[in-house]
Amino acid sequence: MNGRPGVTGGRAETTFPTEQRGSVSTTMAILPIITAPDPLLKKHCEPVQAVGDDVRRLIGDMLETMYKAPGIGLAAPQVGVLRRIIVVDVSRPGEGPGEGEAPDPHCLINPEPLWLSERENAHEEGCLSLPDQYAEVVRPAQIRVAFLDRDGERREMEADGMLATCIQHEMDHLEGILFVDHISALRRSMILRRLSKSKRGDKPMAKYATA
Ligand code: NI
Repeated sequence: MNGRPGVTGGRAETTFPTEQRGSVSTTMAILPIITAPDPLLKKHCEPVQAVGDDVRRLIGDMLETMYKAPGIGLAAPQVGVLRRIIVVDVSRPGEGPGEGEAPDPHCLINPEPLWLSERENAHEEGCLSLPDQYAEVVRPAQIRVAFLDRDGERREMEADGMLATCIQHEMDHLEGILFVDHISALRRSMILRRLSKSKRGDKPMAKYATA
């Protein structure tokens, strides 16, 4: 998921904590991000069977790729890996060094929803796989999820606000669901048409949302 520029921000720098245990390398790679209408974005992803160095390396690369984009969330299928892995960081970086919030990366392997609040929230969402497209999406305002961490330990977390929205957006990717699947068919077709036009190199139409 990417935040709307100037609203949810995005982390421009590529540094992030590398505290993960068992990491085999400190060299991270920027991975190519797949964009719609690639069929890989519509696939169901398989659970990770064992959390090993290959998974930790992929998570490191996904974080690097997300921060570089910049984005606030990324799911493995967006980099062509059909496994149930998501990374999220909704902290707001500042304009300069030492400003803004510290990075707050969350890496969830095999995430499963345990509870969704009845109360709902509307957030304007974007997606690194639907570049420059935004729409307001209504989702449960609070969630509790279970997942495996980078050491393969089972953990649970609760989230609300933008973090809850972002985790749900990324978990949707693991089922082949994009944020545009939550909005009206008319608005969805407008966004996808605009995306395919800009992919063909045509002059992009006016931005869907103002500001
Ligand atoms: Ni997305």
